[in-house]
Amino acid sequence: MELPFAEPYKIKVVEPLRPSTPQERIQWIQDARYNLFKLRSEQVFIDLLTDSGTGAMSHHQWSEMMLGDESYAGSASYFKLKGVIEDLLDIPYFVPTHQGRAAENLLFSATTGQGDLIPGNAHFDTTKGHIEFRRATPVDCTIDEASDTTLYHPFKGNIDLNKLEEVFKSNPAEKIPLCMITITCNTSGGQPVSMQNIREVSALCKKYTIPVFFDAARFAENAYFIKTREKEYAGHSIREIVLEMFSYVDGATMSGKKDAIVNMGGFLACRDKELFDKISMFCILYEGYLTYGGLAGRDLAAVAQGLLEGCEFNYLESRIGQVAYLGHLLKDYGIPCQLPFGGHAVFVDAKKMLPHIPKEEYQAQTLAIELYLEGGVRGVEIGTLLADRDPKTRKNRYPSLELLRLAIPRRVYTSNHMDYVAACLGNIYERRNKITKGFRIIKEAPIMRHFTLELERVL
Ligand code: F0G
Repeated sequence: MELPFAEPYKIKVVEPLRPSTPQERIQWIQDARYNLFKLRSEQVFIDLLTDSGTGAMSHHQWSEMMLGDESYAGSASYFKLKGVIEDLLDIPYFVPTHQGRAAENLLFSATTGQGDLIPGNAHFDTTKGHIEFRRATPVDCTIDEASDTTLYHPFKGNIDLNKLEEVFKSNPAEKIPLCMITITCNTSGGQPVSMQNIREVSALCKKYTIPVFFDAARFAENAYFIKTREKEYAGHSIREIVLEMFSYVDGATMSGKKDAIVNMGGFLACRDKELFDKISMFCILYEGYLTYGGLAGRDLAAVAQGLLEGCEFNYLESRIGQVAYLGHLLKDYGIPCQLPFGGHAVFVDAKKMLPHIPKEEYQAQTLAIELYLEGGVRGVEIGTLLADRDPKTRKNRYPSLELLRLAIPRRVYTSNHMDYVAACLGNIYERRNKITKGFRIIKEAPIMRHFTLELERVL
């Protein structure tokens, strides 16, 4: 008999969770104006809001925290991280940042201005925010297959080369400061990009002299999918795959809160010295001196250790296996999900689950609220609320996908927790026809509205 996978770690410290009653949840979500970001964490039983900064650090990482060097300049922890980035990614220049969006701020401050275009696969919302804040435009060139949740494609994060070349042909190179490949592509459902696609995008960018950057938040998960889905890489180690992936790009922004398994941290790496000098100026202005960039020395040390652990095959197998475990449970209940299951999350297709709710009443948000009411499980809407308004027309942008994301923190929950989450959604699926009304917005911010907006029930 083939042995099942088991987590390559055991649990040393636990944090109690308190289940709540349905009556409590009705009150709490109403008090939170139906915005799950406004709930207190004690009001949540299983928190699948995000896999960002919510992972459990290893005892090696906690030891590194103790070894952290808190010198303002030239910290030993900085050099530890520098060494790991050089070994793992082979990129010569980097600055630490306090998280991924801070790296984006530095990169776009140094490169992007009004009227510019940033093509790529579906940009993450903070990336989009940073681009649009500078009155530039992100251009989504993801392959069309990504928007059909029922279609199996091993690399739904891939960039459509024709779409990308069209952007290059119809705009002067000076207007395209860079192309951004997000690995894995969060917005299209935690979907990976193949090595072949990375290689071809890189070659096309070179032809048009456009630099190419990774948004590398989940680079190790992407490497795992390359190893397991792209035949010629089956015999390669994760680290060999990572090295080759990064050999095709000019730099990367990184949120360490994902694949470096830390609660806070990130960095920006690049190959070009001139760009690095520009970035350095913004780093000192926004983040801090170049050897700490907004982080404590102990955080730098934990990122260094976490990057290495995040690239271990056994860890990745159990992590991505747990996501797939939840996905298969949902599938068995008949719940429509983005296929194949993503690296960090399962994405439930809310359009298919609640087709009778009009899109103007926010199907994915309605489903997220139902899931909270059912069992105190917090997911997140990846749909119209997140897509925000068009900056010019101020009309709602209705994306092709309305998804409820169940993001799984790294090394935090057990299979029993996954069984519980799936059963909650199973119950909702059974009573889905009784959910007939959605929500309307009563208050929203002009940019990145989903974090703070307030809703009320449509009666
Ligand atoms: N890029 C991607 C692909 C991300 O998923 C995120 C964050 C960021 C950049 C920004 O990084 O949070 O460290 O500033 N994603 C989180 C999420 C918030 O829930 O998916 P950050």
